[in-house]
Amino acid sequence: MLNADWLLFNASIFLTMTRRIAVVPGDGIGKEVIPNALEVVRATGASVEFTTFDWGADRYLIDGTTIPADGFHMLARDFDAVFVGALGDPRVPTNIHAKEILLGMRFKMDLYANVRPVRLLDASLCPLKNVTPDDINFTVIRENTEGVYMDMGGNFKMGMPEEVATQEDINTRKGVERVIHFAFKYARDNGRKKVMMSDKSNVMTYAGGLWQRVFKEVAQQYPEIQTQHMYVDALCLQMVRDPKSLDVIVTNNMFGDIVTDLAAALQGGLGMAASGNIHPGRTSMFEPVHGSAPPIAGKNMANPMGSILTAAMMLAHLGLNAEAQKIENAVLDAVREKKTTVDVGGSLGTKECAAWIAERVAK
Ligand code: NAD
Ligand code: IPM
Ligand code: MN
Repeated sequence: MLNADWLLFNASIFLTMTRRIAVVPGDGIGKEVIPNALEVVRATGASVEFTTFDWGADRYLIDGTTIPADGFHMLARDFDAVFVGALGDPRVPTNIHAKEILLGMRFKMDLYANVRPVRLLDASLCPLKNVTPDDINFTVIRENTEGVYMDMGGNFKMGMPEEVATQEDINTRKGVERVIHFAFKYARDNGRKKVMMSDKSNVMTYAGGLWQRVFKEVAQQYPEIQTQHMYVDALCLQMVRDPKSLDVIVTNNMFGDIVTDLAAALQGGLGMAASGNIHPGRTSMFEPVHGSAPPIAGKNMANPMGSILTAAMMLAHLGLNAEAQKIENAVLDAVREKKTTVDVGGSLGTKECAAWIAERVAK
């Protein structure tokens, strides 16, 4: 067959095939919000097949398994996407299982771009005064495989008054270049106008210098996209004072982690924020931005909307755009009609909120 025929042939398979999704609810509220989000996906009628894995603190405490041998390879080989809840449990103070499962997926599956859209669905959800949904609509692209998350460093003279601790910040040209390219392509493909690179290059001169040089080089290949730079502390101020000025932001792993919790607050809290951990062309992983929230776990209190919107992001990534849109519309209706959990001003439980959304989706 000619190449073009092959492409059409493969595209037609992709349009009709059932998407295989690995599901890892994980710990705490992850075990509540994820099954509820799956019900919403089922209500769309999407051709998807879920396989749930019990990786998390319970399993680790029973038999010491964090991720089985071959686990990452199996995910990449047998699944089109991975849907994760949250990992972290006070019974595992070292957090070793979260590190091996969650950071393991990000690093070992090389999911180098963590895409965190920041959208305000309704003015009532925002803690800022006089802000409308038009004012908060930007995306943070967080580098996801490097930086201080590499956990390189050490302790010297531990426990002594002279103790020294070092924590290395790893930035490779390849890693910086590919995530900056991703941000520009994301801007181009999503009708965005500006990409801002945010760093702390006034202090972290070596790593910041690399980010600055690469950003300028890569930007030349996208002349239709405007560029901006802001130090990350100033960006935090800007996110609160003038969020409307923001469009696409690319930053390193740690700064991306911190600014996206602040960004979540602009949307109504951690319960509303969605994310995708992407390597274009490979099995990617989708998870809400929030953690396992131990104090509210098991109480049917957690807001399922972050996970539901994450599921919509995953479906769109898999080419199921109509189903994704149905979910987004239903979440918007739920917010407008106050069919929400208490963290965003409603009175429903996790299950009831998700069931309302599923019902709206199925209509
Ligand atoms: P957290 O996100 O679990 O909770 C922070 C605050 O937000 C808490 O007040 C919590 O009640 C609230 N919250 C979070 N999600 C909510 C939801 N869906 N609905 C309503 N309220 C919600 O962060 P934390 O307390 O810093 O961490 C708890 C554990 O989760 C730790 O073990 C941490 O390492 C882990 N964690 C995991 C992930 C992940 O798996 N992606 C992300 C963040 C934190
Ligand atoms: C997140 C979380 C994780 C991170 C933790 C749980 C390792 O805070 O996804 O934002 O720091 O990346
Ligand atoms: Mn975080």
